[in-house]
Amino acid sequence: MGSKRTGADQHGPNLWTKQARIEEDGWTGPNERTFIAIKPDGVQRKLVGEIIGRFERKGFRLVALKFLQASEEQLMEHYIDLRNKPFYGGLIKYMSSGPIVAMVWQGLDVVKTARKMLGETNPADSMPGTIRGDYCVEVSRNVIHGSDSVESAQKEIALWFRQHELLCWEDNSDRWIYE
Ligand code: RTP
Ligand code: MG
Repeated sequence: MGSKRTGADQHGPNLWTKQARIEEDGWTGPNERTFIAIKPDGVQRKLVGEIIGRFERKGFRLVALKFLQASEEQLMEHYIDLRNKPFYGGLIKYMSSGPIVAMVWQGLDVVKTARKMLGETNPADSMPGTIRGDYCVEVSRNVIHGSDSVESAQKEIALWFRQHELLCWEDNSDRWIYE
């Protein structure tokens, strides 16, 4: 995907909405979606299978997945809200230092639940049983990203994926997960 596609800065916020086909009242209930990324340290430390397995076993549905090395430009857009933080430069370098696994997961309350599965930003504050609580030590090497709100998820999904990369498919386990 082109690193020049920088969402709202270039095209205005509506393009995000159009590209990811976000309806005004869409992506609610079991159709809620979140953006999850296994960071370069998670890939290097061979945690990809473990992390994907946790989301699968929870009962969430995989909607999109790609393995890529992100450009600094795209990461600057992704972390734009943190641009004034002292760790911003280091964060962009770290995130662009190697391949990541970018994913979209879907399910009831998936944004909030995924954040719980991740743990706190600082692994030291993360409970055992969470991904950061189990697999990392330092805040600047915390192996995984998850959208912090439905609004962020919509922006992030549109930043990392094109509409045709988000797959609609019939999940045969749905009837055992939802009443
Ligand atoms: P993320 O966006 O990656 O899911 O993490 P988060 O919401 O839990 O935390 P956020 O405040 O959005 O910070 C983004 C990432 O920046 C790095 N960080 N480093 N050195 C530091 O004090 C520091 N604080 C944050 C972490 O990699 C964090 O996940
Ligand atoms: Mg964040």
